[in-house]
Amino acid sequence: MARARDPHTYDRTQRGFHWLMAALILVALALGLYAAWQVPGTSPRREILDIHKSIGLTVLLLLPLRFVYRLVAGEPAYRAPPSRSAHLAARAAHWSLYALMLLLPVSGYVYSAAGGYGLPWFGVFSFPRLVPVDKALSLAGYTAHYWIAWAVGIVLALHVLAVAWHAWIRRDEVLGRMWPRRAAEG
Ligand code: HEM
Ligand code: HEM
Repeated sequence: MARARDPHTYDRTQRGFHWLMAALILVALALGLYAAWQVPGTSPRREILDIHKSIGLTVLLLLPLRFVYRLVAGEPAYRAPPSRSAHLAARAAHWSLYALMLLLPVSGYVYSAAGGYGLPWFGVFSFPRLVPVDKALSLAGYTAHYWIAWAVGIVLALHVLAVAWHAWIRRDEVLGRMWPRRAAEG
């Protein structure tokens, strides 16, 4: 008989979404930064940007599924509830990350689509161009993409530092909510 799920951890689907999307976003960040240092129109910048866009658009497709699942499944209960202010700070960081996970690929899409550039998905197909080719719109998309990438970097650094502090200094349950040890798993 299947054991009941531990109500103090995110379920398998939520953990799958979190770690898959975290990996995709970290790789996209690294590739985007690398590409930004290369001369436009040269190789390997073009190939790297094709992979960057494919990963970024994958994040954009996964996000609504994750968001709806999160609304339905909710947040796991705490064994030892945090203070009101700590819980509010965690919530603010998590919902900001959800908003940034939407705005970053959307701004990248507008930059590329309005610039008349390709919108590939790993060479399998191309995404439709839903905005007109327009230089000013593309520049606005680029500017937004640049600053939103900075915002992601800052909120993500705070997120990872907060988790490290809980794991190594406070030694509490927070990391285990997203990365339960096998013995604790439902
Ligand atoms: C690689 C380092 C990362 C670690 C160690 C990590 C760890 C965690 C942990 C332990 C939680 C649960 C926190 C709690 O229950 O209060 C969490 C939640 C969350 N993380 Fe991360 N994370 C990482 C990367 C990321 C990335 C790259 C993103 C996306 C940009 C992200 C977005 C989120 C979100 C949105 C939540 C809230 C989940 C929800 O309520 O649905 N994390 N993370
Ligand atoms: C999770 C999604 C994404 C992340 C984390 C991300 C991150 C980044 C970062 C950090 C840069 C470097 C910014 C700079 O220093 O100039 C960048 C550049 C870029 N991104 Fe994204 N991006 C994402 C999605 C997308 C999408 C969906 C597209 C287009 C469909 C896109 C198109 C571009 C392009 C064309 C550049 C090169 C900018 C330039 O130097 O001209 N990105 N991205």
